Amino acid sequence: MRRPIIAGNWKMHNTTGEARELVELLKPLVGATDVEVVVCPPFTAIAAAANAAAGSNIAVGAQDFFWEDQGAYTGEVSGPMLRDLGCRYVIIGHSERRQYFAETDATVNKKLMAAYRHELIPIVCVGETLGQREAGETLAVIGHQVWEGLKGLAPDQARELVVAYEPVWAIGTGKTATAADAQEVIAFIRETLGSMYGAAAEAVRIQYGGSVKPENITELMAQPDIDGALVGGASLDAVSFAAIVNYGDH
Ligand code: 13P
Repeated sequence: MRRPIIAGNWKMHNTTGEARELVELLKPLVGATDVEVVVCPPFTAIAAAANAAAGSNIAVGAQDFFWEDQGAYTGEVSGPMLRDLGCRYVIIGHSERRQYFAETDATVNKKLMAAYRHELIPIVCVGETLGQREAGETLAVIGHQVWEGLKGLAPDQARELVVAYEPVWAIGTGKTATAADAQEVIAFIRETLGSMYGAAAEAVRIQYGGSVKPENITELMAQPDIDGALVGGASLDAVSFAAIVNYGDH
């Protein structure tokens, strides 16, 4: 059985005070769930969120990091630095990183290896653009991202992996993939992981992301291969995010 995991990607939102307040509001609202709950603040608010979350069932992750441990890499943040702040998760290869900051499957793979080196659980994002979907290239694009971005793990490492399928056209647009469309691609991701890692693929948790809301989470979670969600906008509001975490009185 795969334990559901619902993560909030705050993107470039929330100061330290706002982060603390959001976590404090969230704690009592998600305290009873058996879903794994993660919040991913911007770097500057990670410590504040982690301090506020201490002793609760809310874990903290980062939205990105660099693969080297230290050195002359102005502006970058490393795995040991994230561990030092109390991070247990790190998002890798979000489509906004790919689109605005030139991340590729090759950099995703380097970050993936670094995450395992530092015992950070990676949440690796894949997803097609609208143009690619309309051209019928979705599965080819996703297959390539999975093979190239996620290669080189031992099967035991692969079991720990979290993958987020986030169709780029569904992010921040209010357009959610239908639960059936999301299931189709996510089943394909699991099948691809099966070709790479054998039975370990059955343990990999695969999230859907892109305009997840309290209104659509239940149907998404009812799909056999969808194990959670990566939530953007709706994770900035404690009540909305808690309603997503507590989907269908899970
Ligand atoms: P929205 O939920 O705002 O569409 O963002 C999805 C996302 O990119 C999460 O990483």
